[in-house]
Amino acid sequence: MKDSIPLLIDTDPGVDDALALLMAFNSPRHRLLGLCIAAGNVGLDYTTANALKLCEVAGVTVPVYPGCDRPLVFAAEDASYVHGRDGFGDIGYEPSQQRPESEHAALAILRESHAHSGQLLLVTLGPLTNLALAVRLDPSLPSRIGRLVVMGGAVTGKGNTSIAAEFNIAFDPEAAAIVFESFPAIELVDWEAVLRHGFLHSRFEAWLATDNPRAGFYDRISRKTRLWAEGKRGDFWHSADALAMMVALYPQYIIEKQRHYLCVETVGSQSRGSTVVDWLGRSDRPAQAEIVLQVDQARFEERIRDALGAHG
Ligand code: BDR
Ligand code: CA
Repeated sequence: MKDSIPLLIDTDPGVDDALALLMAFNSPRHRLLGLCIAAGNVGLDYTTANALKLCEVAGVTVPVYPGCDRPLVFAAEDASYVHGRDGFGDIGYEPSQQRPESEHAALAILRESHAHSGQLLLVTLGPLTNLALAVRLDPSLPSRIGRLVVMGGAVTGKGNTSIAAEFNIAFDPEAAAIVFESFPAIELVDWEAVLRHGFLHSRFEAWLATDNPRAGFYDRISRKTRLWAEGKRGDFWHSADALAMMVALYPQYIIEKQRHYLCVETVGSQSRGSTVVDWLGRSDRPAQAEIVLQVDQARFEERIRDALGAHG
């Protein structure tokens, strides 16, 4: 554990968040410091309860810090039509015995950034509300983060929540704008990369058939979403947050990335929440976004299989 990388995750669980968290729980090279919780896929009470439940099912004890219960400025629609009303497929699970911390997620981010200055791997799998608040409370935060990996955006405007915008950014564009203005280096896994890294439903179902509590629980909470996705996107299943976690935990398997300046549109009547990338270097703003374009698909699938405790 001495040489392990300190890892802090901000998340809004969520079916794909859960798969990403199982990957993080399963990494021997990382020391998970805690889970900061955002509202997003569903409301904060649900996302907090889901995080606690997943920890319990996986036999993992980490602090869970509830954060902001809404976007910084404007109210936004959740994604319960994808993840279920409770964010975990409405299976009616027994609530966890574990309790959340009283410290706010934004304060936990700041505290851990001091405790692990220069080393901390921070991964965001949901709207950027907590992180934006943290950076407003202490603008020196970015200088203490070792790596920041963000799941969000649609880098050429092929969105999943509106024509041009991706959910995590569109849910709280003001927060995303603050984060992209404040951090000098952000590793970005966008929705379009996710679409290039689908895996077959049939293969995934075989992994879920494994006899262990992680796979069994994940099978149950993801069933509705998988059915919905199959109807919408066909044979391939996509897990946005799992791909971001792959990049965070196993950067050696990134095959292609490009660094560009990226800003977040907050006012467009059609394009609010979209991520505008300076692909051609037209602005003189520093290129802060390292956009991941491709990872090793076979390794990605291996890591997911391992996280579920499956074989073959
Ligand atoms: C992102 O939006 C959420 O619904 C998912 O959990 C993921 O973080 C994908 O656009
Ligand atoms: Ca998420």
